[in-house]
Amino acid sequence: DIRLIVDTDPGVDDAMALLYLAAQRERVELVSVGSVHGNLGARPGAENALRILEVAGLGSVPVAVGADRPLDFSYLPSGQFVHGADGLSGAAGPAASARPVAENAAVRLVRLCRENPGELTVLALGPLTNLALALHLEPELPNLVRSVVWMGGAIDAPGNITAHAEANAAHDPLAADQVLGAGFPLTVVPLDVTRRVWADADWWASIAAATGARAKAMTAWSRQYLRANSEFEKHRGGPGTLCHDPVAAILLLEPELAEYERHPVLVEFAGGQTRGATLVDRRGYITPADASAGRPSVRIATDIDVRPCLGRLQAAL
Ligand code: BDR
Ligand code: CA
Repeated sequence: DIRLIVDTDPGVDDAMALLYLAAQRERVELVSVGSVHGNLGARPGAENALRILEVAGLGSVPVAVGADRPLDFSYLPSGQFVHGADGLSGAAGPAASARPVAENAAVRLVRLCRENPGELTVLALGPLTNLALALHLEPELPNLVRSVVWMGGAIDAPGNITAHAEANAAHDPLAADQVLGAGFPLTVVPLDVTRRVWADADWWASIAAATGARAKAMTAWSRQYLRANSEFEKHRGGPGTLCHDPVAAILLLEPELAEYERHPVLVEFAGGQTRGATLVDRRGYITPADASAGRPSVRIATDIDVRPCLGRLQAAL
């Protein structure tokens, strides 16, 4: 059984991931959800998390508001141009009946991991600001969690929010660099694999035809995201969406659907045009001049079995 904390910036594909997880109740216990800036602000993000959990019948899962700024207070346009002003394609709907808990998401992450050493898995679906802050509060955090899975980065693939950077890395490159270098038992699910999981018009039509609450909500919440994805991904030859965050959730439960390599990953947090780029050194040697000297490796998904992922997601909605 996986006892899970989800850290998220919900976000249409974050909603897909949460709804997928909600359908895996025999295997996943959702312990707590934290919100972070990224697709939208952390507070409206927490409101979305509550809405999504309510639709999923998980309205009693606590939601904590997390960081609303990257570590260095820099700014990048939010993901609202992709996910809609409210993060859910303008269809977020009325507020859920539950309210966020008073405890901050990073503080809560530290407390829960201290109280349950070695037991909790963290699925991070947004910028890594909360995890970095938690690491500042508790440097032993990498030894207290069971594992971490992060959707983020673009290793060999082009970026998405900029030419060289994936959005979750770009929204807080310093936090990403700190967390990736901290020695967590960590799996990175980068754009290299998520950009292969394309839900086409037929896939979305099958969700629109379904009558369950999850499918109905997802159909409404995906409209603006579908438009934006279809516009950005014209080369696919028809409308559809990428499914970044649910791919990370699926690999958490079924890691055998992907192939992996282990490398240290550095994140460019000082560059101009390449800020947020995730760097893997393939030379096979390290010099004393390299920032990756002594840096722990993380597991990086490099290839994925696409069809089962789309099938799992369809079955869950
Ligand atoms: C990531 O950025 C966000 O827009 C998505 O929710 C996903 O987590 C993809 O780059
Ligand atoms: Ca996300």
